[in-house]
Amino acid sequence: MTSTITPTTSASYQQCASCGTRFSDTDASPRCSACGGLLAVVHAPPGMSGTELRALFAQRRASGDGGSGVWRYREIVLPGAGEHIVSHPEGNTPLLARDRVSSWAGVPQLMLKHEGHNPTGSFKDRGMTVGVTQARRIGARAVACASTGNTSASLASYAAHAGMRALVFVPAGQVALGKLAQSLAYGARTLMVRGDFDACLALVQEASTRLGIYLLNSINPFRIEGQKTIVFEILEQLGWDAPDWLVLPAGNLGNTAAFGKALREAHELGLIARVPRIAAIQAQGASPFAKSFREQFATRHTMKAETIATAIKIGDPASFDRGVDAIRFTNGVVASVTDDEILDAKAIIDGSGVGCEPASAASVAGVRLLVRDAVIRSSDRVVAVLTGHVLKDPGALLRYHQELSPAPQYANPPVEIDPTIDAIERVLGD
Ligand code: F0G
Repeated sequence: MTSTITPTTSASYQQCASCGTRFSDTDASPRCSACGGLLAVVHAPPGMSGTELRALFAQRRASGDGGSGVWRYREIVLPGAGEHIVSHPEGNTPLLARDRVSSWAGVPQLMLKHEGHNPTGSFKDRGMTVGVTQARRIGARAVACASTGNTSASLASYAAHAGMRALVFVPAGQVALGKLAQSLAYGARTLMVRGDFDACLALVQEASTRLGIYLLNSINPFRIEGQKTIVFEILEQLGWDAPDWLVLPAGNLGNTAAFGKALREAHELGLIARVPRIAAIQAQGASPFAKSFREQFATRHTMKAETIATAIKIGDPASFDRGVDAIRFTNGVVASVTDDEILDAKAIIDGSGVGCEPASAASVAGVRLLVRDAVIRSSDRVVAVLTGHVLKDPGALLRYHQELSPAPQYANPPVEIDPTIDAIERVLGD
């Protein structure tokens, strides 16, 4: 392992996870320039005990402190952000309990962390507030990402807020309507690439290096720092009494990586006494990580991805190695669920009044599967993360409720009627 220390101006630095080379925290390279590995951000210890940190976060929460559920944790997210912060604000999302969802999944103590309540409707805003803050810190004029739709919506919004040009690469014809609409509305230059997400990601990496545009995909380690706060906030909402499981949908594995890093740090800093297990859930048609998990990660699999959950339609996850670390560190599991299981879970979540996009429902479908397989016990305390808002994918919703034949079990088709009381009575009598 080599370690060339570049002088830094702040208490944080970037370090390659593969070869250990260190870089300044203001280096803009998307990957390690020595070996091409993925970078991680390392902060100087905050110099406070777990108890002191918890008290600081609680005091900020009580006082409002700008209203961001990301920057409340700034000492362990990006202590050098200073006056550069670009915040909507974001985070402070609810932790919900719904009997109907719990009983369907088979876990009475199931809680739903609804990240769809973020300003652009997905958890990506937590990574993006930090990513765009970092872009401003290093003086970037333009930012770019490849996306299945949520990252691009978030990037477009935060770039607009910061007054930066945004370039997004999305797979043509494979992005849910709400997400594409957001990217256009917030003013990003939107490139529809004739290829899948994996092709978009390869293209944007080359483009950003050649054209000097700051890359804000989740390979960017500052995005990961922001997404850690989903975990910090869940733990804080539970009074720092860690649940048994954190369950989340997994595609490119940036979020799985962020969860692992957050739990490692929360434990090391004394914020929690016990580390919950991560369950990463993939769609069966896009499940290279689950396949590798079944072989104890001996092989890094890739596949041509196909699933209704377009957000996680990814065949070659970029954060694979980081994802493996997260699963190993937490004694976690990786599972996959079918599109039908995803749609049924979504219908239950939607029907409880909570609502989420298809990929998000994979987490609850995963809980049900893991309970059936006796991996999760029905007495466990489980938090399932809902990553995106119900309105992100109206196309999938309308297909499910009014187009599929035969109608699915939980379909709720609209009924067209004549404008008469008789007609209403007939419907009510059905
Ligand atoms: N859920 C939703 C709603 C997502 O949009 C994504 C990823 C994930 C789960 C999976 O997270 O990739 O970190 O494992 N969406 C990315 C995007 C790929 O471009 O919006 P992951």
